[in-house]
Amino acid sequence: MSETTNPGLEGVIVAETELSDVDGEAGELIIGGYPLEELAANASYEESVFLLFKGRLPTADELETFRTDLAARRRITEEVRQVLRRAAADGAPAMDALRMGVAAASLEDEGGERENADVDTTAETGSGPRADAIRLVAVVPTVVATYWRYRRGEEPLEPRSDLNHAANYLYLLTGEEPTPADVRGLETYLNTVIEHGVNASTFTARTVVSTDSDLISAITAAVGALKGPLHGGAPGPVLEMLREVHEEGDPEGYVREKLEGGERLMGFGHRVYRVRDPRAAVLSDAAERLYAQSADADFFETVQAFESTAVDALAEHKPDRRLETNVEFYTAALLDGVGVPQELFTPTFAVSRVGGWSAHCLEQLEDNRLVRPVSRYVGETGRTWTPVDERGV
Ligand code: COA
Repeated sequence: MSETTNPGLEGVIVAETELSDVDGEAGELIIGGYPLEELAANASYEESVFLLFKGRLPTADELETFRTDLAARRRITEEVRQVLRRAAADGAPAMDALRMGVAAASLEDEGGERENADVDTTAETGSGPRADAIRLVAVVPTVVATYWRYRRGEEPLEPRSDLNHAANYLYLLTGEEPTPADVRGLETYLNTVIEHGVNASTFTARTVVSTDSDLISAITAAVGALKGPLHGGAPGPVLEMLREVHEEGDPEGYVREKLEGGERLMGFGHRVYRVRDPRAAVLSDAAERLYAQSADADFFETVQAFESTAVDALAEHKPDRRLETNVEFYTAALLDGVGVPQELFTPTFAVSRVGGWSAHCLEQLEDNRLVRPVSRYVGETGRTWTPVDERGV
C-alpha cells in the first residue's frame, strides 16, 4: 500500500469513463467524444443528455421520443410542493430547498423498495436506475422553479410539455414564454456544464451508488456537494462582484483591494485547469451574442474588461500558480442575461449537471466496485481506559 497521503485525491484516477475528458494542461474538454465547442451551441439539452445516457447522439425519432418521455415526467407531487413551500416560507437557501425536493422525489413511487441490486439497469420505466435517471433530469427544473415561485409569493406553474427542457425551465420561473435567444443562451450553458469528469459532486454520486444505493440518494448527496462555494457556489458572488465593479468603475482598485486583503477572486482558478477553462470561452461567446441584443450591453463590456484586469493581477499576485478564468465567471453574465435570478445560479448548475451525475451513476453500476479508500492513522496509540471521574484534561 502506498505511504503517500493525498488529501484532495489530486491526480488519482478513480474511474474509467466514456463520458468526458478534461485536459487541464491543454484546456480541452471532450463530452461523449465531441469537443465542447462542437456540442455547446448546437445541441439541445435533451440531445446532450441522450448522448451521455446512450453513448451517441439520437436520431430524429429517438430525440422526439426522449423529449416526450422527459416532458411526461416533469411534474412533482403535492407533497413535494409542500416541502418546497415550507422551505421557501422559512427562507431556506435555494440549494437546501433543491436537496429537500430531490430527496422527496421518491414520493412519486407507489411503494416498493428502491435499490439497484437485482433490478434491470436498462429499463427506462419503473423504479430502476435508468428510469430514476430520466426522472431526476426531468424534475430538477420543476423543483427549483416551484421553490422560486413560492419564495416570491407566487403559485407554482404546471410544466409545459410543448416546450423543450430549457424553455420550460425559463417558463416555470417567469410564467412567460421565453425568447429564442434566451432559450439558446440557457441551452448553451446547460450543455457546457452538463459533464466534467470526476469533480467533487460527481465523485460523491458515484460513491453513493457504489454501495448499491439508489440514484435519488446519490443525486441528493451530489446536490449537497455542489452547494459549497469552492465547487458550484461561485457564480452568485461573481455577479455581485461584476455589478459592483460596473457601478463603481474601478476594476484595478477592486482587484487590488481584494488580493491585498487576502481574499480570492471568485471565477478564477481551478483544481484541474492550468489555462483558461475552455467552458469560459464557450460561455463568453454565448454571452456576447446575447448581450449584443440587450439594453445591458455596457455591462458585458465591463465583464470583458474585468477579466483581463483580474488575470493580469492574479499572475502578478501568484506568479508560480496559473490562475485563469474558470467556468463560473461567464456563467454569471450569461445566466443573468437570460433572466435566471442570482439566487438560482447554483441550482441552475444542478439543472444541467444532474444529467452528468446520473450518467456517471449508470456507468458506475455497469461495472461496480465499492468506493473505499484508506486513511493513514496519525493519532495516539497505546492509551489505557480511565473511569470518567478520574479523568483530568
Ligand atoms: N483568487 C486569489 N487567489 C487564489 C485564487 C483566486 N481565485 N485561487 C487560488 N488562489 C491562490 C490561493 O490562495 C493559494 O495561495 P496560497 O498558496 O498562498 O495559499 C494558491 O492560489 C493555490 O490555491 P489552492 O486553494 O491550492 O488551489 P485549488 O486547486 O485548491 O483551488 C479553487 C481551486 C477553484 C478552489 C480556487 O482557485 C478558488 O477558490 N477559486 C475561487 C472560487 C471559484 O471561482 N470557484 C469555482 C471553481 S469552478
